[in-house]
Amino acid sequence: RRQLQTSLIELNTRAMHFYREQLKRHPRAIDYLKRRGLSGQIAARFGLGYAPDGWHPLADCFSDYASNPQLGEVGLVIDNADSGRRYDRFRDRVLFPILDGKGQVIGFGGRIIDQGEPKYLNSPETPLFQKGLELYGLPQARAAIRARNRVLVVEGYMDVVALAQLGVEYAVATLGTACTPEHVKKLMRLADQVVFSFDGDRAGRKAAWRALENSLALASDGKTLSFLFLPAEHDPDSYIREFGREAFEALIDNEALGLVAFLCRELAAQVDLSTEEGKAKLLFLAKPLVEQIRAPALGVLLRKKLAEMAGLNAAEVSQLLGGTS
Ligand code: CTP
Ligand code: MN
Ligand code: MN
Ligand code: MN
Ligand code: MN
Repeated sequence: RRQLQTSLIELNTRAMHFYREQLKRHPRAIDYLKRRGLSGQIAARFGLGYAPDGWHPLADCFSDYASNPQLGEVGLVIDNADSGRRYDRFRDRVLFPILDGKGQVIGFGGRIIDQGEPKYLNSPETPLFQKGLELYGLPQARAAIRARNRVLVVEGYMDVVALAQLGVEYAVATLGTACTPEHVKKLMRLADQVVFSFDGDRAGRKAAWRALENSLALASDGKTLSFLFLPAEHDPDSYIREFGREAFEALIDNEALGLVAFLCRELAAQVDLSTEEGKAKLLFLAKPLVEQIRAPALGVLLRKKLAEMAGLNAAEVSQLLGGTS
């Protein structure tokens, strides 16, 4: 199994070099990256490439293109079951190689140039690549994460690369999936401060709540988890391009909500706290969330905050929600 994985990584690595060479030869792709504000230096740092148009450009890179079954397993090619034909998965897309924590190429994300569907096409889940486990940009971010003792979690490839270009080098991305408990565990091992900053759109706000749910059981009194909400039309890439690094980092410092504050704000938005029924519902909604928290001080502080919101004293809330306070 280890041997199989090694050879799949070798195929991906070879493809990454091929795609990087192709980027140099396709001004249209280079122009696209330039229009997105990326320098050649940052493109090289993230190994960005270009998959040319056509059905099998990768045949120039693999002499056994037609027969090697592993090219299919690793998701570089697609085998059409009906026609028996094989063709490249990535065609006419800018490619972001996805590296694991050790820096090995485990997959790719490909963005269409300008408009089109799907906007992003990713490697399939393979024995190498499990989306719920990996953090895009980790090898490039690791030193800065350690130096700042902070990791910023964003949604997109382009967010990570654009942030790095503008000097925020401690960002990583979940790969188009919600932030899983495994992601949270990994993040909390990387730094004492974990800041989630998803897009300001509906999908981003939903993703933030999922991240909170998956963090409750893992939160620790010695670490901070916080949630930064960007204006509705922005993502980290667009925000930092428009307002700059200082403004973005000021948002992290001043506007990010802690786990308790975020949880209380979301629940408060779902009920009418001016009524007894609304207060009851607040505690009803909070109960299953509070029960997951294992960090002792955080649990007490959350119960205290809920008590204030519901107009009860701590003893009454403890009676309702469990725990000592
Ligand atoms: N994504 C995906 N497939 C899609 C759309 C999105 O896998 N069809 C994932 C990608 O990892 C993408 C992330 O979800 O980076 C966030 O999506 P979105 O906000 O729509 O894209 P951006 O990263 O903002 O991309 P861009 O700025 O290039 O438009
Ligand atoms: Mn060409
Ligand atoms: Mn989005
Ligand atoms: Mn974007
Ligand atoms: Mn986005």
